[in-house]
Amino acid sequence: SRRHVLAGLTACASLPALPRFAQASVAQVSTEANAGSAAHRLTLAPARQQIAPTDYPATDLWCVNGTMPGETLRRTQGARLVVEVDNQLPQATSLHWHGIRIDNAMDGVPGVTQDPIQPGTRFTYDFALPDAGTYWYHSHAQSVEQVERGLQGALIIEEPDAPDVDQDLPLVIDDLRVTAEAAIDANFAVPHDLSHAGRMGNILLCNGKMVADHPVKTGDRLRLRLINSANARIFTLGLQGLEGWVMAYDGMPLATPEALPDRLLLAPAQRVDLFVDVTAAAGEDAFLVQFERDGGYELARFPVASGTRARRPAPSALPPNPDFPIDLPSARSVDLITEGGAMAWLSGARFKGEELSGQDLAQLGQFWAFNGSAGRPPEPLVTARLGETIRIRMVNDTRFPHAMHLHGMHFSEVRADGSLGPLRDTLLMLQGETRVIAFQAHNPGDWLFHCHMLSHHAAGMGTWVRVT
Ligand code: C2O
Ligand code: CU
Repeated sequence: SRRHVLAGLTACASLPALPRFAQASVAQVSTEANAGSAAHRLTLAPARQQIAPTDYPATDLWCVNGTMPGETLRRTQGARLVVEVDNQLPQATSLHWHGIRIDNAMDGVPGVTQDPIQPGTRFTYDFALPDAGTYWYHSHAQSVEQVERGLQGALIIEEPDAPDVDQDLPLVIDDLRVTAEAAIDANFAVPHDLSHAGRMGNILLCNGKMVADHPVKTGDRLRLRLINSANARIFTLGLQGLEGWVMAYDGMPLATPEALPDRLLLAPAQRVDLFVDVTAAAGEDAFLVQFERDGGYELARFPVASGTRARRPAPSALPPNPDFPIDLPSARSVDLITEGGAMAWLSGARFKGEELSGQDLAQLGQFWAFNGSAGRPPEPLVTARLGETIRIRMVNDTRFPHAMHLHGMHFSEVRADGSLGPLRDTLLMLQGETRVIAFQAHNPGDWLFHCHMLSHHAAGMGTWVRVT
């Protein structure tokens, strides 16, 4: 029933039937998107879209070229992305190209790498694409509000030699908080959200639908590119009727594909590339499912028709992206102590250079601090020489998980035994944990380092590193 749906999340069994999700073939999208290097226009403007079940009204969103998520951008590794952003919104904005090892001036951070794009004006982003993989773009201005209203989309950089898959499906997974009339809940600064786990939605979406629907055939191999674009929700994902491998995290290929685990945690802004084979029988459905305490929720459904393909052998790894080796023995180490939030409240911290009490900070919507600073401090966490290896020991002295994101460069986790984990741009750090990351400072510029739970970033969890 109506009330049931919006009181909480929708349980699998009670989901209404939704129309087929229109699926453009990969080849078709690629040719169009890659035609020439002339600027492609991205218009950011309000638009209505049916995201809630059909017995609710359509929702007013802020869209990129008319949809939420915005149009999927596909380019080939080694090409450039040239897009002219036309801001038809009532607020100033910017776009950040999450996970791209980008020219700093194109990173899309107002006040750091560019001036905000004012309403009624345009800005052209033009940058090289050194790496293949699954990336995404989103607003980096008032992001709690602007990403929630819809300014987000997939950015797919294809390998020059396409891997052997039958379908390539970006799946942008999100949750939105809507009112009983299916409008975006416009209270974006709820102190409870800012000081606890962040703004959680009450509907789950996959590619802007409550259930994305992708017809497949038995024996098909699918490349699923999962992108968590939610404000704060950590997804716990599982697949049914699909079996396969993890091929890449945050765009970067694994040297050896890993068997797909039963449950896959995907923190805000993280991506994972899967190759999965359809093992469900013809006439059945396969599923991508989100697991919550009270059960599973369908995110995507794959109705299975009979196919003629024999099961393929296990895939070989995707080709590696350019490597910037991490030199641990010579690394410079810095600490990042995370404090604050509910149940571990700040007693005080610096904010814009001023020492404030916990109470004064709360008044300003600031609940978290890195190394005693709430909000982006005037001085960087570290100034690295180009090529230097930096090691950051992150201590989560709070009662909440955080999704730590470094702009401009990928890092590896330094595991307890000293080995390096896979390259990532966003790492989930659970409550009470200490985690160590290291990266080669190969990309010059000023780069944000922040929690990607957008409410946490807005409430203090941001710092930056400088590479000179
Ligand atoms: Cu996905 Cu600072 O951003
Ligand atoms: Cu956080």
